[in-house]
Amino acid sequence: MGIQYEENRKIFKLDTDNTTYAIALTPEGYIGHAYYGPRLREFGGAYRLRTAEAPFTPSVNKREKSAFLDCFPAEYPTGGIGDYRESCLDVRNGQGSLGAELFYRSHRIEQGKPALEGLPASFGAAGEVETLHLFCEDPILGLRVELLYSAFPKEDVIARSAKISNAGRQPLRLEKAYSACLDMDSQDFEMITLCGSWARERHIQRRRIGYGRQRVSSLKGESSHQEHPFLALASPGATQEQGEVFAMHFVYSGNFIAQAELSQYDQVRMVMGIHGEEFSWKLNPGESFQAPEAVLCYSAEGLGKMTRSFHDFYRDHMIRSPYKYKKRSVLINNWEATYFDFDTEKLLAIAKEAKARGIEMLVMDDGWFGKRNWDDSSLGDWQVNLEKLTGGLPDLVRKVNEIGLEFGIWFEPEMVSPDSDLYRAHPDWAIQIQGREATLSRAQYVLDLSRKEVRDYAYECVASILRSAPISYVKWDMNRQLCDMGSGSLPPDRQQELFHRYVLGLYEMQERLVTEFPQLLLENCSGGGARFDPGMLYYSPQIWCSDDTDAIERLRIQEGTALIYPLSAIGAHVSDCPNHAVGRSTPFATRGHVALAGAFGYELDITKIPEEERAQIPGQIETYHKYEPLMHSGDYYRLLSWTDQKPFDCWMVAAKDGSEALVTYVQVLGAAGRRSKHIFLKGLQPDARYRLEGTQEA
Ligand code: GLA
Repeated sequence: MGIQYEENRKIFKLDTDNTTYAIALTPEGYIGHAYYGPRLREFGGAYRLRTAEAPFTPSVNKREKSAFLDCFPAEYPTGGIGDYRESCLDVRNGQGSLGAELFYRSHRIEQGKPALEGLPASFGAAGEVETLHLFCEDPILGLRVELLYSAFPKEDVIARSAKISNAGRQPLRLEKAYSACLDMDSQDFEMITLCGSWARERHIQRRRIGYGRQRVSSLKGESSHQEHPFLALASPGATQEQGEVFAMHFVYSGNFIAQAELSQYDQVRMVMGIHGEEFSWKLNPGESFQAPEAVLCYSAEGLGKMTRSFHDFYRDHMIRSPYKYKKRSVLINNWEATYFDFDTEKLLAIAKEAKARGIEMLVMDDGWFGKRNWDDSSLGDWQVNLEKLTGGLPDLVRKVNEIGLEFGIWFEPEMVSPDSDLYRAHPDWAIQIQGREATLSRAQYVLDLSRKEVRDYAYECVASILRSAPISYVKWDMNRQLCDMGSGSLPPDRQQELFHRYVLGLYEMQERLVTEFPQLLLENCSGGGARFDPGMLYYSPQIWCSDDTDAIERLRIQEGTALIYPLSAIGAHVSDCPNHAVGRSTPFATRGHVALAGAFGYELDITKIPEEERAQIPGQIETYHKYEPLMHSGDYYRLLSWTDQKPFDCWMVAAKDGSEALVTYVQVLGAAGRRSKHIFLKGLQPDARYRLEGTQEA
């Protein structure tokens, strides 16, 4: 299979169907990055480490060890001893000094892939993936590091992570523990990232890299609206079909850094991991720290090939939900229909009309609990508001089921409102710095999920509601970012662990949820798409993409999101016009076409929209279900891009066997004096004849 070790040349060669990744060891045991690129039949290229060139390795030229370390292409560079580029691992010893140096000790190659304790990670059976464990050591610190590389041949993906263990006698402090590094020669790369804001998530950004460090990152406690844990370096002018692309994507939902650094020797170092700022981890003797996973993908055939590799990879090796390829009920969510102003009667009226038009599930959004009539109270008090839901929740669910719809519900379990019984009883459960008034955001605080009793409380609130009635779907929201990082239960020398412990706590809660309710359809959400990342995909097969539901704005947001995420993961709804976020009016049909490129639903007051729009709903749902299997399993091709300032947008999904394809074209702006346009399709079988549906045309 794909991973081989050549003992005499000390080279590890990791092959996927179209790529090779090579690691070479120096005589001293330094672990060097030798190659990543198109698949090679043989790799003898340890010379690529350039250890035969001055300044040479330390055993040849100890005098210039620092110069060696500062240009050696390292697999997992360490800080403090002379490599002045960005390090991946910073360790402080018992005396407070920073410095570590890793040497190869042994390795193991196994079929399949181990799980990462407490973290989401890709998976695959023997035959689908093979894993290299590289065991290395800093003998002075008694530090052991296990570098993991899992090669997925079919998807052309290498998943990397690192486990750091203190096998010595003194307590150590990790000040940085990234997940992956890629050292390469500069090729005038362009850096592709996904950036934005609330309601403007994941717009594609492209810029040429220059000397120094350029990064995207988050220190907000979540992957964020603003920057995304994704970084691709592409050869200049790479297109959908042409050019090389080296991509990294982080399987993590908290603080991150993704950085490219062009050094004095025109070498590029690309790193990804948990942000080192506001991170430090005490590692007592015998303890280990598991860094999250980074997904690496190389494409020699432009961005399109990279996209399709990621789509296949996430569908088959990250999303666990039984719904990943299954029919998902078309839902109607009452948020943009009613906001907080609803009751049983209103919901039932929506449900009845929804049923009449073919919709399959009603989702009750924010405002059903405590005294929550606005966004300034009651988070944490997850008891049904009987003034709104007069007969109680089981009664409402029963009535909705009787109408013929499934029922779904909204929660924001990680939060607490100052105006809540929970906060009055347990003010110390909120994340805050002692003696300082914590900063409010959306009038709420964040619960300290590093504490077990807090997680247990929040989990039970959700689970007891789910146990009380047949609820098919949960929207798990998170509507503010973290600050005032103080935990009432961590000692001073562990306070900087809080950001990561929070994320671990969140993962533990979601793991409990999907374990106790395996048939639940879970949709994650964070003020729209602020926590849209591969980590959350491990728990939920779909994530709400953005609070901007305007069909035109969505073109850019969904193009950026679909650059790496499969369409089945992208929550997309038809909403009312003028659009609540931007005030634009678009045809109902356009809204439907754009939402079809995602996990489809409605978000409007169906009892109020015009009859000619309601009349289109059954047809939209029929179309959605007809193409759902294709959209959820086919190959995605980006044909034209509104982001590139064209007046139109166009994408298609082709079945893997080439039997059918769905093409979506949106004319964003009208223009006078233009003729129609040819669209050149991709992914079709050259020797097949295709029929344009609804016509006899071939
Ligand atoms: C977030 C979500 C919305 C809605 C509101 C409710 O903003 O993204 O869809 O659920 O919260 O408060």
